[in-house]
Amino acid sequence: MKQPLPEPSADAREASIELCRQIADEIAGAGGWMAFSRFMELALYMPGLGYYSGGARKFGAAGDFVTAPEMTPLFAHTLAAQAVQIMAQSAAQILEVGAGSGVLAVELLLELERRNYLPERYLILELSGELRARQQETVALRAAHLASRVTWLDRLPDDFAGLVLGNEVLDAMPVSLVEWQQDEANPAASPVILERGISFAERDGFIWASRPARGALLHAAQALAIEKQYVSEIGLAARAWLSEWGRILSRGALLLIDYGFPQAEYYHPQRSSGTLMCHYRHHAHGDPLWWPGLNDITAHVNFTAAAEAGFEADLDVLGYTCQAQFLFNCGITKILDRFPDKTDKAYLREAGAVGKLISPNEMGELFKVIAFGRGISDSLLGFVSGDRCHAL
Ligand SMILES: C[S@@+](CC[C@H](N)C(=O)[O-])C[C@H]1O[C@@H](n2cnc3c(N)ncnc32)[C@H](O)[C@@H]1O
Repeated sequence: MKQPLPEPSADAREASIELCRQIADEIAGAGGWMAFSRFMELALYMPGLGYYSGGARKFGAAGDFVTAPEMTPLFAHTLAAQAVQIMAQSAAQILEVGAGSGVLAVELLLELERRNYLPERYLILELSGELRARQQETVALRAAHLASRVTWLDRLPDDFAGLVLGNEVLDAMPVSLVEWQQDEANPAASPVILERGISFAERDGFIWASRPARGALLHAAQALAIEKQYVSEIGLAARAWLSEWGRILSRGALLLIDYGFPQAEYYHPQRSSGTLMCHYRHHAHGDPLWWPGLNDITAHVNFTAAAEAGFEADLDVLGYTCQAQFLFNCGITKILDRFPDKTDKAYLREAGAVGKLISPNEMGELFKVIAFGRGISDSLLGFVSGDRCHAL
């Protein structure tokens, strides 16, 4: 039986009510309707009130979900091998996007120090002021001697050479909700394509309301050639973000790790209600209108669309594979072997976490790694075996 969601505290409810009031004002100002993508953007990123911009603890056991770098430092230590290769072919600097608690930054820097390959600069681009403060604290506590190399950015740089890293960032970018509505009286006709959005009524609060899809969204939805009743997401923000990198990256690679599928699987006929998901205190649920601002809202990544956006931006797609294969290629088993005593508690803890990262039933298959690059001629270590670019 599905467990009921835990009741948020009075303070949390008050913050959510304030966020909803501001969203409702924007809906009223816009004539009574807001696209879901804008609702998601505000629910996640409205300064001070959005899920990522508010004060609550998001990652780890006390938060809403656990990400790979939070599970074990060995994730970052393994990525270091790939980071070295990319930096050697471009520039000795890393830009991490959406750095969460800062633990990936710290563990990656410590491992690169052990490998005698410290980047000159480790830049972090973080939208959330609260997370930026937490990252600064993590660096100060766990790698104070490296703190002078770490700098926080307020926006994307004008140009960059080196490694760009993002773990679970694309899935946190706003998506549009699209509905293919079939005319029951005429099932042979092509479905009408609608964009789902939100209206507000004083008595009922937020309610779902759809309008005919237009512009770039309609174009992207038509290209999917869906011919039945269907609901799914289209991530125009992620595509636009990748296009920006076509302008910014002078030499180097973007390494993006996230859960998702290639397009044929993403829009599989059986996945007819999409991939949108919310997380609150380790409970997954499907209602983004439940206490907006208090839960994470996320959608799986369409890696084919990501590859197309990179390609159109004149970036090379350097590799695409599942997380397990990528970590094996980068030597995760050797890193685990560094523990001399296989009966030691620390070894057993890390081996358990690594098991989750690579198991096909946990994160090993659902999570993928994609790399985009410019001016990189060597095959990337993480994709030497089991590259799946052909499946995109
Ligand atoms: C699910 S969390 C992942 C955090 C961390 N990378 C980890 O693995 O623990 C998503 C992160 O992406 C950030 N984010 C989303 N869109 C972003 C953007 N356009 N630029 C920078 N950060 C972004 C959020 O602020 C948040 O820190």
